[in-house]
Amino acid sequence: MNNDIILGIETSCDDTAVALVDSEGRILSSVVASQLDVHNRFGGIYPEFAARAHITAILPAVDEAFRVAGIAPRDVKAIGVTRGPGLIGSLLVGLNAAAGLGLGWNKPVIGVNHLRGHLRSADLERQRVVFPATVLLVSGGHTLLAYMKSAVEIELLGSTADDSVGETYDKVGRMMGLDYPGGPAVDRLAGQGKATISFPRPVINKGLAFSFSGLKSAVLRFMEANPDAPREDVAASFVRAVMDVLMKKSRLALTQYPSLSFAIVGGVAASPQLRDEAAKLCKRMKVELCLPPLRWSTDNAAMIALAAFDYLNLEICKEPVADLQLTMDRF
Ligand code: KG4
Ligand code: ZN
Repeated sequence: MNNDIILGIETSCDDTAVALVDSEGRILSSVVASQLDVHNRFGGIYPEFAARAHITAILPAVDEAFRVAGIAPRDVKAIGVTRGPGLIGSLLVGLNAAAGLGLGWNKPVIGVNHLRGHLRSADLERQRVVFPATVLLVSGGHTLLAYMKSAVEIELLGSTADDSVGETYDKVGRMMGLDYPGGPAVDRLAGQGKATISFPRPVINKGLAFSFSGLKSAVLRFMEANPDAPREDVAASFVRAVMDVLMKKSRLALTQYPSLSFAIVGGVAASPQLRDEAAKLCKRMKVELCLPPLRWSTDNAAMIALAAFDYLNLEICKEPVADLQLTMDRF
């Protein structure tokens, strides 16, 4: 199957993304139409507007992807499209576009789990992950640890019972009056402060599961009770608590599931604090740290196309969009 090409479509949240990728993970094109200006004023994603913006952006993004790659629809082997989890209105736009194009071009359509896409994103452009690997996925929508014996043998080790890390950053950013998404702004502020406030580290001693809503509420209560406390110190203390939880769980996973590498994927992988902490952890645990370029950490369609090859290889998907379950049950 060398050098087959898959068209990837990703519309699970607020980015309309289309990419053309070959079976080696080489990117022929990757188009991301951001909706940040649509949602900025709400301080979060407004699902109805997200779906509407996808409708406008999807077909021009497909055209652009083919134009940049310099190939035609007849050159693709299949279409890979995110089938979930995600915002239902947003997902339906991508799924319907993929189904329509697949019918028109007579190409199979493969429904891809968004989380498998993120987990595979580390191998875009070139193979970076050395298996077996532990992968920490930290995004706006998800927080989980997974163990990958190989690219296609994935075990979910633990996920969040409530908020994701990115969502927690965004909510803390909003409490501080910072722009959406709050992650980068909270990080910048934290860099100027001292971690002097003792915030809780929810479920830190409870296996490989996460929980962040208690931490978010503790930051809110603290800010209400101490309106004059330096925001830099609040941000630094919040980030310290998040790092302690992420690193403790990652260390436990690496101990329980011996790995040759540790990868971090998802938008929060942009956090300089997280990158530093992960480097220290990997040195201590003697595993290779795998930090893919940030453009592949945030939502994109190249990771969906790459993951679609796995479905072909696994023969999971024999029928077009065979499996549209919108749950996290299976990668
Ligand atoms: O993976 P992503 O682009 O979208 C989802 O699939 O959700 O992740 C976006 C999330 C946002 O919550 C954003 O605040 C967070 O990633 N983020 C960061 C940083 N840059 C982005 N969080 C912490 N530190 C950062 N530097
Ligand atoms: Zn995502």
